[in-house]
Amino acid sequence: MVAARKPAVPGSALHLVPALPQRAPAPELAAAEPVIRAETLTIRYGEFAAVRDTTLDIPPKQVTAIIGPSGCGKSTLLRAMNRMNDFIDGVRVSGRLLFNGRDVYGPDTDPVELRRRVGMVFQKPNPFPKTIFKNVAWGPAVNGYRGNLAELVEESLRKAALWDEVKDQLNKSALALSGGQQQRLCIARAVAMQPEVLLMDEPCSALDPIATARIEDLIDQLKSQYTVVLVTHNMQQAARVSDRTAFMLMGELVEVDVTSRLFTTPGDPRTQDYITGRFG
Ligand SMILES: Nc1ncnc2c1ncn2[C@@H]1O[C@H](COP(=O)(O)OP(=O)(O)OP(=O)(O)O)[C@@H](O)[C@H]1O
Ligand SMILES: [Mg+2]
Repeated sequence: MVAARKPAVPGSALHLVPALPQRAPAPELAAAEPVIRAETLTIRYGEFAAVRDTTLDIPPKQVTAIIGPSGCGKSTLLRAMNRMNDFIDGVRVSGRLLFNGRDVYGPDTDPVELRRRVGMVFQKPNPFPKTIFKNVAWGPAVNGYRGNLAELVEESLRKAALWDEVKDQLNKSALALSGGQQQRLCIARAVAMQPEVLLMDEPCSALDPIATARIEDLIDQLKSQYTVVLVTHNMQQAARVSDRTAFMLMGELVEVDVTSRLFTTPGDPRTQDYITGRFG
């Protein structure tokens, strides 16, 4: 089901954002220990610092959006959270990044296990050239899942709002699905690993408005069980689905706040300029 869009907030500084979540997160959630915490984190490609001196808490079971102009370091910061940056030559990380209080880059952290607990969905859907069923079942199977795989596949596809469309064709190639369906399949694949955190890097950028709305609904549902970090260029999307929003500019975290506040009364003039479309 595609949720009805919420009405615009009268007097909003951001004419670009028609729908602003009005509720602040429940106080107990805001006060909860962060699932992920970046402390004075700097990430360099060679000598170039793509993310500089960033301190950011990601609270549990909320959606945190990261916005900012192209090249400001959003994907770099997101990829650090499950060490996907490890696959890029020349990346150096300083400062600290904690997942449930443990150092993500510490010697005791197994990056494979980390990525199981901190899943990722990419901008471009990247299903395996296998059946729909195998796309979802493969990860849990190789990780020694002991439950009923068929049930897990169904549950994951239901969570990703794809089950009804594919339940009669689970043995069809995933590559035969539409782009929006492939993206929901990739979300189901990530969800099947039963992660604690889902990192999403512009998951809707290649999708039409209907598929986008479905994925936004899904993100809204997922946060009852998961912590979601969502990178998006789409400020309306950040406003619609996130509880908190972080604004980055040229490698720096300018500010992070409850989404409705950041979009109506930002604390920094650079945020104001960005959300009112003056640059970026
Ligand atoms: N593999 C890489 N090697 C060298 N520099 C890189 C690499 N990836 C990104 N960068 C640089 O780091 C900076 C931040 O890039 P990043 O991809 O994190 O930005 P972004 O905010 O996600 O941008 P976009 O909105 O366009 O996706 C940019 O200046 C980019 O050119
Ligand atoms: Mg990016």
